[in-house]
Amino acid sequence: MKFAEKLGIHYENKINEHLAFDDVALLPGKSDFEPNEADISVWITPEHLLAIPFISSPMDRVTESEMCIALAREGGLGVLHRNCPMQVEVDMAKKVKREEISGIIRDPYTVTPDTPISTVIRIMREKNISGLPVLDKSGDLVGIITNRDVVAANPDSPVSKEMTPKEKLVTTLEKDILENGKLNTEKVKQLLHLHRIEKLLVLDELLKLTGLITLKDLKRLEDSPHVSRDVEGRLMVGASISPFDHERAIRLDLVGVDILVIDIAHGMNVNAINSVEKISKDINAWIMYGNIATEEGAQEVITSDINKLASLRVGLGGGSICQTTQVTGVGVTTLSATALAADAVQEHDANISIVADGGIRASGDIAKAIGVGASAVMCGYLFAGTDEAPSEKVYIRGVPMKRYRGMASPSALRERYTVDRYTRGSKRIAEGVEGMVSYRGSVRTLVRDLASALKASYGYVGARTTKEMWEKARFSKRTMIGVREGLPHDVIPESQFQDMYDTF
Ligand code: XMP
Repeated sequence: MKFAEKLGIHYENKINEHLAFDDVALLPGKSDFEPNEADISVWITPEHLLAIPFISSPMDRVTESEMCIALAREGGLGVLHRNCPMQVEVDMAKKVKREEISGIIRDPYTVTPDTPISTVIRIMREKNISGLPVLDKSGDLVGIITNRDVVAANPDSPVSKEMTPKEKLVTTLEKDILENGKLNTEKVKQLLHLHRIEKLLVLDELLKLTGLITLKDLKRLEDSPHVSRDVEGRLMVGASISPFDHERAIRLDLVGVDILVIDIAHGMNVNAINSVEKISKDINAWIMYGNIATEEGAQEVITSDINKLASLRVGLGGGSICQTTQVTGVGVTTLSATALAADAVQEHDANISIVADGGIRASGDIAKAIGVGASAVMCGYLFAGTDEAPSEKVYIRGVPMKRYRGMASPSALRERYTVDRYTRGSKRIAEGVEGMVSYRGSVRTLVRDLASALKASYGYVGARTTKEMWEKARFSKRTMIGVREGLPHDVIPESQFQDMYDTF
């Protein structure tokens, strides 16, 4: 069955009703497994498996290095925004790639033997770390200094006076703890336990420092079994580019970005497709192309000459901060656009994943998008309120919030780097808005909750895997009254009585 038919779309019609997330609900199906047995992992490219199908939008209030690191550690993917100079985006990508390899911290912050203790204390405080390897001028390891060594030390004395010196250091060779690119956590734990230490220094065969493993990171590794990694064990990262920015594409590719996300509002633009065809011949990364929102749009891209096309980013005008439909009259609901694009992929028997982008507000929307052929969802609004989103938490009447804005909002456009997503040449009209979203805590808690809810959806539908979701998901169309019935109703939230309690 065609995905669009599930939503009552018939290709021969001149006008079709394009249903949105709230217009439909999934129907329950026979299930012979428990929800926690559902497998929600997906191949987002032929080489990249995501344990959880959540991708963050390339937006400047959503995704910088911190978001990418947090999402990759949970099995998802962050896509760096490009509303910044090229070098800044390149540095953000480098930061993700250098963060760790298979649990080993690469490029740890280091100091020299003559660094004053006051500087050590400042670095520890600023970077929230509790120990620094000490390297001499030629880069050889000569000691380690930890917070225990500095608490009562004279701030003016040099590190060499307080550090644990080379002779007493506990180190390990990288080859002894890595097996086929995977960290042998048991071996590391034994070493930490044996020497009653919290930090293990990792060396190469020339005895140069290659990294650091901390007890804290080890615990986190054990608690996050589904990290998104590249073949070298580094964290996976996506980065966005304008379809016309050849140089930025090449620079990001050199850093080892896994997926280059082509970031243009109207992906059916032939100049953009032609440009990306050229760029794709010069890079190694896989490409996610978008946005497109119709079957013809998807076909145009699928049959183009874009090398290593892995994914289509689908949606137009559905985003929480979008104004495109209001301003231009053009838009396709994300649910319907997803079904249309998925049909095109199916028709061409293409190995291309669909990413539903825009308007995802809750786990139910994610399940519905997957039910009409998406492999994953891209979210701005959902992630903008988390700790890892790059904006300050602010309190409005005591309620914690974070700032969020469309990349075609007036203030984002003023920063000019996104100009060619929404405006090239003469056109320069805001197609986005800016505002606040509720603070949501850490990405980790959020995506774990979303993943549990998504597994519950698979359980109700009776789909063990995403492929089964595509086959088995069926929908009912809801009336306004039905929508109301599907939400909590008639119960008065206790919070409304909070003031009364306070006066008792
Ligand atoms: P959500 O609903 O997750 O949507 O906040 C995020 C997606 O919205 C798109 N986007 C925009 N669309 N004007 C638009 O019409 C804008 O200024 C804008 N900024 C982002 C983009 O696809 C993103 O992933």
